[in-house]
Amino acid sequence: MIEKEKLMLRDGALRNEIIIVTGGGTGLGRSMAEGFSHLGAKVSIWGRRMDVLGKTADEICKLTGNQVLPLACDVRNTDEIDNALAEVIKTLGPVTGLVNNAAGNFISPTERLSPRAFDLIVDIVLKGSKNCTLALGKYWIKEKIKGNILSITTTYASTGSGYVVPSAAAKAGILAITRSLAVEWAKYGIRLNAIAPGPFPTKGAWDRLFPEAIAKRFDFTKKIPLGRVGNHHELANLATYILSDYSAFITGEEIVIDGGEWLKGAGEFNFLDIIKPEEWDELEKIVRNAKS
Ligand code: HXC
Ligand code: NAP
Repeated sequence: MIEKEKLMLRDGALRNEIIIVTGGGTGLGRSMAEGFSHLGAKVSIWGRRMDVLGKTADEICKLTGNQVLPLACDVRNTDEIDNALAEVIKTLGPVTGLVNNAAGNFISPTERLSPRAFDLIVDIVLKGSKNCTLALGKYWIKEKIKGNILSITTTYASTGSGYVVPSAAAKAGILAITRSLAVEWAKYGIRLNAIAPGPFPTKGAWDRLFPEAIAKRFDFTKKIPLGRVGNHHELANLATYILSDYSAFITGEEIVIDGGEWLKGAGEFNFLDIIKPEEWDELEKIVRNAKS
């Protein structure tokens, strides 16, 4: 649950927005939907499980007093997307924003994956986001609406990562679409941006990526310079900013929100964190002596 007082934008900042959040029934999608709704947006949450979506919609609506429309829609199916979009327009009004958040992912050595397993992730993540982006883009161009697309990628969309290769490939594809269409569709006033989160605890991600057997052996907060995982309101704030007019001059950007995690992995000498402060006197002497 997002506490309203932790949201940075003023009350009603998204009052004129009608936003679709794919995968909005759970996890980060739910938190973003909640943030948008608190700030006055009408939100439609999409996913495969109607029972989950219905419960989330009721809970958000009770918290915020704003309309939330749950719709069963598998983002791999373009007919379902067309029907869901028509339903949102009919029930809530002209759509102004899309958050491509729905995803599937699990850890596995790549050589253990069947072709179907690889395709499944790419179909949900890359093709699902492409399907929604195309449907909304065509609608906005036809109706002359200056729409706004936010896609949730990950830091390894840029760096790549072993053991989640289908997800890395799919997220990299989303980033390429974001940067490409930001330029191509700017003439229609359509913006596209991405947010690349580091670890933010959700049941969906933790069950599949950090199961207890791994968590026991590896404390991944040690990889994060700020020493902690993300809080959902921190992501929701960034997403509301991107979905609002306050960010009107930002397009084609991927904003990382990861406590410094990927940079720590990338910087050649960041491993020197292991040296204790008192050890530096001796080390400095050794290094200074190098010239003799
Ligand atoms: C190897 C596996 C596997 C595993 C499934 N498969 N799990 N292969 N290791 N652990 C294979 C199956 O054998 C099958 O291939 C194919 O994948 C499809 O499996 P199904 O179980 O039939 O798929 P389905 O029921 O549609 O489930 C989809 C799912 C599931 C992606 C596997 O996990 C899901 O519904 N996920 C949605 C939510 C989610 O993943 N959230 C996490 C996002 S977190 P064969 O060939 O045998 O038929 C995220 C964060 C990243 O992205 C960054 C973190 C820091
Ligand atoms: P999550 O709760 O499992 O969210 C995934 C959502 O996608 C679920 O609501 C799921 O609902 C929906 N979904 C899956 N397949 C779908 C399909 N075919 N059609 C429509 N909806 C579908 O996990 P999360 O952690 O919040 O992840 C949300 C996003 O953040 C993802 O894009 C993920 O890659 C990204 N991310 C998360 C983290 C993290 O640390 N949590 C880090 C970086 C990036 P149904 O099963 O009901 O369809």
